[in-house]
Amino acid sequence: MAADKPQLVVLISGSGSNLQAFIDAIEASSMDAEIALVISNRADAFGLQRAQRAGIATATILHSDYPSREAFDQALVAAIDQHRPDAVILAGFMRILTAGFVDHYLGRLLNIHPSLLPLYPGLHTHQRALDNGDRQAGSTVHFVTAQLDGGPAIIQARVAIDRADNADKLAARVLRQEHRIYPHAANWLLQGRLVMRGDTALLDDQPIASGGIAICADQPLPS
Ligand code: GAR
Repeated sequence: MAADKPQLVVLISGSGSNLQAFIDAIEASSMDAEIALVISNRADAFGLQRAQRAGIATATILHSDYPSREAFDQALVAAIDQHRPDAVILAGFMRILTAGFVDHYLGRLLNIHPSLLPLYPGLHTHQRALDNGDRQAGSTVHFVTAQLDGGPAIIQARVAIDRADNADKLAARVLRQEHRIYPHAANWLLQGRLVMRGDTALLDDQPIASGGIAICADQPLPS
């Protein structure tokens, strides 16, 4: 039987504070969806406890149990597809996915990356922004393509860098913005307002500029 609400599968590796933002948005009825499953590639990810507390099914699929990236990704696909998700949400999932996985979910696979993409794909984004003397840091929600942290950007939250910042302080301020923009962007996708066409994300049929819709901290989100 088909589920009556849009179904999400969320992939995590760690604390799961972005997962929590989705749980909270659904509980507050600002998102009309159901999280069918949370998958972690780490048994000790705190996000698994957040999911269990919210009554959401969880699965732990350890990459170390599989002989190759392809085999691990196939196990992920098998678990995810049981739920026929409308969207797959990468929320701090720290594994590089194969092109086969990405293509399977193309257009319904979202990621959040803690930098103002295209700046700083990869790791240690906040430290790299500080080391370069940047005046702003932030986070970008984007469609996932086979290019690492390179798919079409949707929305980008910008945070001013203070002189007293270190990577942890900055990460905490950016994370607060992530919790606003990620469920918001996912809502657009679930409502059918957001689509990926080639290299471009379109919102209400209008192309989104290459860095995504820019939001400054605490500025209201566009409807
Ligand atoms: C978030 O800052 C997210 O942007 C980042 O991991 C953190 C997860 O936090 N993702 C990446 O670095 C992906 N390349 P959370 O587990 O508390 O949601």
